[in-house]
Amino acid sequence: METKILKPTNKNMLLAASLLKQGEVIGVPTETVYGLAGDSTNSSAIEKIFKAKGRPNDNPLICHISSLEMLNFIVKKTPEDALTLAKVFWPGPLTIIMPRGERVCKESCAGLDSVGVRMPKNKIALKIIDLAGIPFSAPSANISGKPSPTNAFDVYEDMKGKIPLIIDGGECEAGVESTVVSLLENTPIILRPGVITKEDMESVLKKEVKVAKGVTQEVSNAQKVLSPGMKYKHYAPKADITILNGDLEDFCEFVKKHDEEGTYAMCFDEEKEYMPIPAISFGKKNDPKSQAHNLFSALRELDNVGAKRVFARCPQKDGVGLAVYNRLIRSAGFKIINLNCKKQI
Ligand code: TXA
Ligand code: MG
Repeated sequence: METKILKPTNKNMLLAASLLKQGEVIGVPTETVYGLAGDSTNSSAIEKIFKAKGRPNDNPLICHISSLEMLNFIVKKTPEDALTLAKVFWPGPLTIIMPRGERVCKESCAGLDSVGVRMPKNKIALKIIDLAGIPFSAPSANISGKPSPTNAFDVYEDMKGKIPLIIDGGECEAGVESTVVSLLENTPIILRPGVITKEDMESVLKKEVKVAKGVTQEVSNAQKVLSPGMKYKHYAPKADITILNGDLEDFCEFVKKHDEEGTYAMCFDEEKEYMPIPAISFGKKNDPKSQAHNLFSALRELDNVGAKRVFARCPQKDGVGLAVYNRLIRSAGFKIINLNCKKQI
């Protein structure tokens, strides 16, 4: 199959909408990352998504809507907190897990009784949903396990020959996927951090929002996980990544000692010139939004330069930093070395 990359003109967005209605799967930009979109109500379209990504079929997809009326179509019951969050954060990078309604096919939700829903902020995504008149389910448009795509070319790299169309909406604004919050229990719980933070939601809901353990810690396959996505290795380039937690000086000393053929440092922009080994940067120091924006393209670049081993600087774990840390620790298969242990003794 030929994969076309087309600009988001009216004509091309109509084509995208009509392909969706025919049960095809297409690449669509959102404000977070590019999605691999298919009709949420059509199980054969959903099957194509899982196949194109090579995604384990117990990992549910997010349903994307363009209006609150569409929400009634998808969920069984809208919790009060969902409306409060939607009023403030939709359209935007927040996915809310709610009880699943009848109209979304169960394959999209991997057989669960719940469904993740979000209204994207990206105008192209919203327009395509409107034109199609149906919600689309979309995971990130990468091959399962690889870094999420933040531009149309990254989608092409992974989906070439597998889908008929990618709409090129330029670079994604956020660069990391949406925050996923579950409202299935009384206390909201974050299953995946994003640019909308725990504190953002607490200030709107006026109550505590928890963060699931799996956000920062490894959960085993056997353990019951709140979000199936937590148990898979994710966002990983071919290189073997280790996070080094410590200051810049200790970082440089460590990487210099461990410099072998194909070893790269992954550091913040301002630090690149001080690196004693080849380095790729992922955004500005003390600026988690910039790190979120650049992280996945930096991970893809490591593949392009043929990196075999990577030592990465450790992002902060609060605010938007938690989203960056969550993705990086998964790309590293949870390998982290505390450099300043000896100093603490
Ligand atoms: O920003 C985003 O969310 C992007 C764009 C395309 O919208 N989409 C995205 O989808 O990141 P995906 O499939 O790569 O990640 C969805 C995550 C997975 O970790 C999945 O396990 C979780 O959301 N999820 C979806 N539905 C769920 C449900 N009903 N219960 C628990 N977790 C759910
Ligand atoms: Mg994904």
